[in-house]
Amino acid sequence: MTSNDPVLLKTDIPYLKLHNKGKVREIFEIDDNLLLVATDRISAFDYILPNGIPHKGKVLTLMSEFWFKLTRELTENHLITMNIDEIDKIAKEDKDLLRGRSMLVKKVEVIPVECIVRGYLAGSGWKEYKENGTVCKINLPDNLKESGKLPEPIFTPSTKAESGHDENISFEEAVKITGRELAEEIRQKSIAIYKKASEYALTKGIIISDTKFEWGKYGDKVILIDEVLTPDSSRFWPLESYSPGKSQPSFDKQFVRDHLEKSGWDKQCAPPSLPEDVIRITSEKYLEAYAKLTGEEMVK
Ligand SMILES: Nc1ncnc2c1ncn2[C@@H]1O[C@H](COP(=O)(O)OP(=O)(O)O)[C@@H](O)[C@H]1O
Ligand SMILES: [Mg+2]
Repeated sequence: MTSNDPVLLKTDIPYLKLHNKGKVREIFEIDDNLLLVATDRISAFDYILPNGIPHKGKVLTLMSEFWFKLTRELTENHLITMNIDEIDKIAKEDKDLLRGRSMLVKKVEVIPVECIVRGYLAGSGWKEYKENGTVCKINLPDNLKESGKLPEPIFTPSTKAESGHDENISFEEAVKITGRELAEEIRQKSIAIYKKASEYALTKGIIISDTKFEWGKYGDKVILIDEVLTPDSSRFWPLESYSPGKSQPSFDKQFVRDHLEKSGWDKQCAPPSLPEDVIRITSEKYLEAYAKLTGEEMVK
């Protein structure tokens, strides 16, 4: 795609079997594998917004690819190839549109627990801590601040709701869903990946406050799936302006959420269109996160 290309809000690939359609991604079956296509859609407050964000699908996909490579010695993952020219079942005329935003992946049995790891106190974690001194029932020291660093990264799983909000659960509740051995394996691996990635990101001026992983069963193995360590699945904060005791500016869609909060939208009906400048700045934030983390400007 070139920088003049319009945003992609939905795909039109009638000859491939649709496996699933998420808020952002469209997933097709190709033989025994899946083609994960990230559109430029953006969601907030569980609604898909009417506008797309230029380059967002490509940023999410290339960033996931970057992290899959960086964490390869810690875990096997679902990525087969990003080179869609290798995939015969995609028609020639569709390749330009899909290039960069699509990944051929191994199709797994998704483990129905969202594996959230938190290194800092923000969002629903901060809310629970303020009320009870815990996060997902894990006791934490007193006197932690909003956006403060935790003594150790913690595993705070949530349910993977088919519709509606995901719900935070305790580790023992995750054990009930997956069995103990599997819950322990995905906890240990999720924390190990978070540690490696967040240490790396710090050297690039980004704090990864928290992030969500998904895992799947592939034969007798447990492999890392979905998107990994992107602004859609994580909270990224600029290190240079980090100051605990309040909420932090971020590279994710917080900017869009703030705009919607101020817009007067009641969150009960279809969301309003985003103004041009909100779209442009959000796009710049995604591109900036990519450039900072990888050390390279994304080729648009
Ligand atoms: N390798 C895989 N095999 C099967 N399903 C996968 C795989 N990787 C990701 N998924 C699923 O694909 C969907 C990704 O689409 P997305 O737009 O992110 O959906 P959502 O709105 O649920 O976040 C998720 O439901 C995720 O669990
Ligand atoms: Mg998702």
